[in-house]
Amino acid sequence: MKNQITFVCNREVVKTTIHPGLSLLDFLRNNLLLTGTKEGCREGDCGACTVLIGELLGDKVNYQSVNSCLSPIGDAAAKHIVTIEGLNNGSDLSVVQNAFVEEGASQCGFCTPGFIVSLTGYFLINEKFDFDDAVNSMDGNICRCTGHSSIIRAGRKSAEIISSKMSNHSNHISALINSGLIPSYFAEIPTKLKELKQVQIDDSEKVSPSYFISGGTDLYVQKWEDILNKNVKLLSSDGISSNIREEDGKYIIGANATVSDFINSQLISNVFPFIGEQLKLFGSLPIRNRASIGGNIVNASPIADMTSILLALDSTVHLKKNGQQSEIKLKNFYKGYKDLELSDGELVAEVSFDIPAQNSYLNFEKVSQRTFLDIASANTSIYIELNDSIIKSCNISAGGVAPIPLYLRKTSEFLTGKEINYSNISEATIIARSEIEPISDARGSAEYKSLLLRQLIYAHFVILFPQLISINESE
Ligand code: FES
Ligand code: FES
Repeated sequence: MKNQITFVCNREVVKTTIHPGLSLLDFLRNNLLLTGTKEGCREGDCGACTVLIGELLGDKVNYQSVNSCLSPIGDAAAKHIVTIEGLNNGSDLSVVQNAFVEEGASQCGFCTPGFIVSLTGYFLINEKFDFDDAVNSMDGNICRCTGHSSIIRAGRKSAEIISSKMSNHSNHISALINSGLIPSYFAEIPTKLKELKQVQIDDSEKVSPSYFISGGTDLYVQKWEDILNKNVKLLSSDGISSNIREEDGKYIIGANATVSDFINSQLISNVFPFIGEQLKLFGSLPIRNRASIGGNIVNASPIADMTSILLALDSTVHLKKNGQQSEIKLKNFYKGYKDLELSDGELVAEVSFDIPAQNSYLNFEKVSQRTFLDIASANTSIYIELNDSIIKSCNISAGGVAPIPLYLRKTSEFLTGKEINYSNISEATIIARSEIEPISDARGSAEYKSLLLRQLIYAHFVILFPQLISINESE
């Protein structure tokens, strides 16, 4: 017997026994005939397929925008999926739809549903609105014909209108319904989802999976067709946590936690207030909403952004297999290109690192061919504990300059115990360049990447300790 996936799509309850690895995009378009959700790139780049996924937390539904082309239908279980059709309110246009019409923000219209879903999601998710944030919520959406200026105007206009119409409602959803952003059925969704929770998903079919799927943001780009012919295990239903918690002097991150979970974690932002801003260089909002910490580690991309930060935090990876648990330092986890200290069926369950000391600093630097929404040519992270101007402890990582996400052992050792001054940092860049093995590829020549890493190491210190270092401009 196949597992049953039950969820609410717009107004309706949907039950299906389809392959759980089928993309949500294909299910919406081919099975539910909701063709307003468009297939563009199928790689998470265009946003034409954007939908909202709402999860019941207490009495409220938390919505997020995701790329349906990269999300398995199995992860829709017990959730509310909102497509562009679910935002229609009879014959009336919603505030956002109307703003797009009035500002001339839609021409061919292929991208338009994604923009409208993303922007509507912004107002659903946030109780206080900011014009720039509203526009930034569409950072995963690309329009190739109308031009973004009119879309930005439509975003700002929507924010203005909704802000002015929001009364002092204690219930955010009711206020949004009254302001004309969403149809009235949204008010019933929490009750509907609670009822769904009664539906038992049969888990009797136990066959070894060929794919373990967490966020799927890279897997679905590469393997979406193959997934359909294989057994898959969705880690969201396999007891892999997405919590970020504090325990015994450590921060522990469930492998299913997403990059957005990391950015939004109060624990993390308390100790590293700027990391959320820096991680906006990690994909678009819908990608950050799905891409998981465990997936980023196991994917073993040499230019993985989250892994770069976790290496600098000297993290420990916690593994599990058949009830057995083990752990390994992240810096010892990679043996070669996509070659991990991970046996068949073994899963990354959590990753942990020591709670940063009082006088500690973390910085992440990334250079890519375009600033946002691009893969790094090189990246690097540094964690430093300071005693006056002396480095008490240092960990530094480098991506894009070796077959693996690299922990720069010699550079970290060299810097430990040193004073922060130009001469020591200059020496550290020489050691760092001796530790790497960059190759020439589409993202730059080997020499370019080596020079880039040198500059990014300087950048760490200029940004973290501008008062302690002055760079000799002749260098
Ligand atoms: Fe382009 Fe999904 S189809 S992001
Ligand atoms: Fe967006 Fe044409 S209106 S691609």
